[in-house]
Amino acid sequence: MAEITFQNVWKRYPDGFEAVKDMNLEIKDGEFMILVGPSGCGKSTALRMVAGLEEISDGSLIIGGERVNELAPRDRDIAMVFQNYALYPHMTVRENMGFALKLAKTDKGEIDRKVDEAAKILELQQHLERKPANLSGGQRQRVAMGRAIVRDPKAFLMDEPLSNLDAKLRVQMRTQVARIQHQLGTTMLYVTHDQTEAMTLGDRVAVMRAGIIQQVDSPKVLYEDPANLFVAGFIGSPAMNFVPGRIEGDTIKLPFGDAPMTPEIRQKLQHASGGTREVIAGVRPEHFEDARLEPSGGARLKFRAKVDVVESMGSELYAYFEIAGAADVRSDQLQEIAADAGMEDLPSAGSQIVARLDAASSARADQEIELSLDCSQIKLFEPEGGKSLLAA
Ligand SMILES: Nc1ncnc2c1ncn2[C@@H]1O[C@H](COP(=O)(O)OP(=O)(O)O)[C@@H](O)[C@H]1O
Ligand SMILES: [Mg+2]
Repeated sequence: MAEITFQNVWKRYPDGFEAVKDMNLEIKDGEFMILVGPSGCGKSTALRMVAGLEEISDGSLIIGGERVNELAPRDRDIAMVFQNYALYPHMTVRENMGFALKLAKTDKGEIDRKVDEAAKILELQQHLERKPANLSGGQRQRVAMGRAIVRDPKAFLMDEPLSNLDAKLRVQMRTQVARIQHQLGTTMLYVTHDQTEAMTLGDRVAVMRAGIIQQVDSPKVLYEDPANLFVAGFIGSPAMNFVPGRIEGDTIKLPFGDAPMTPEIRQKLQHASGGTREVIAGVRPEHFEDARLEPSGGARLKFRAKVDVVESMGSELYAYFEIAGAADVRSDQLQEIAADAGMEDLPSAGSQIVARLDAASSARADQEIELSLDCSQIKLFEPEGGKSLLAA
């Protein structure tokens, strides 16, 4: 086992493109670290540099205290699981899992022992003599992980290992991966573009955008105290709502109305000045509620809205509405998130607000409703650059 450290690591591809820029990240021994970001932000490049499959242009990569920049992949003692894990179709599960050890001329008894041990962890014992064609997608994925586990590496690298599985299986496998990592206690760097996967799996999550790490922290801190608009918009589903706002003394002026600045926000507000300033305000969907249900606690801002669409989730419902003055938020960070989700050309995407309401809410499509929002949960960002104005 070992820790992995990126020290000012850069990747410049031969065509001059900088895919990873000045990356600093410390993955502790035994830690489960997630690297998440939109497609093309440099996640695979970063992972491949750890594996030794991609040359490091600048900076140092340290594994277990040793600089490994010049070390060949096989000498790094690291195991990687890809999205497209190719199993050998003519080999049984046992042979597939033991293949790397066989190549390394490990003796037969030792291979069997390690494969049996890994099969037990992965719950593949009954399937060891089968061929891959006779396995389900999830079982095949576990065999691919088994191949990595038997090598007993210093660290695991996983590059979107679940993205080829269907939605339900992905959720099951997610739990499995977390369980296996905890059981083995091996350092893991896991790449995904799926923020739900990132939030449910990792001890810590590094959010990446355009080759640059934006924030590294626990899922809880990323969710509650995002460092900038990008992290705020990327983490959470449905996504945080963004509206233009203005701080005027002790009031936050929003399209919903005037919210009092709560002590929580006042305390976190950096460079606290009594003056006036333009901001981008963020409100998570669950911080709205049907005013009729009188949610308890704290300062709440009540306002009326005409609901466009209601989606019932059973235990809750999502109410979509538009509000005058909400369409003006401009940010390249938010644009990039929309583009990644394929929504950049949706005309109403910017001005539509989504509220996550209790299932008992009377919200109906095309009807007006009174909503309230929890003023203590408003996030504030600089319009230029998108930096959070609230200190974590
Ligand atoms: N061999 C290459 N030459 C030039 N650019 C590349 C090469 N490989 C990847 N890139 C670019 O580097 C960026 C990051 O790629 P990648 O690390 O694969 O992203 P991710 O895994 O986050 O989707 C992308 O814009 C991609 O087009
Ligand atoms: Mg990738």
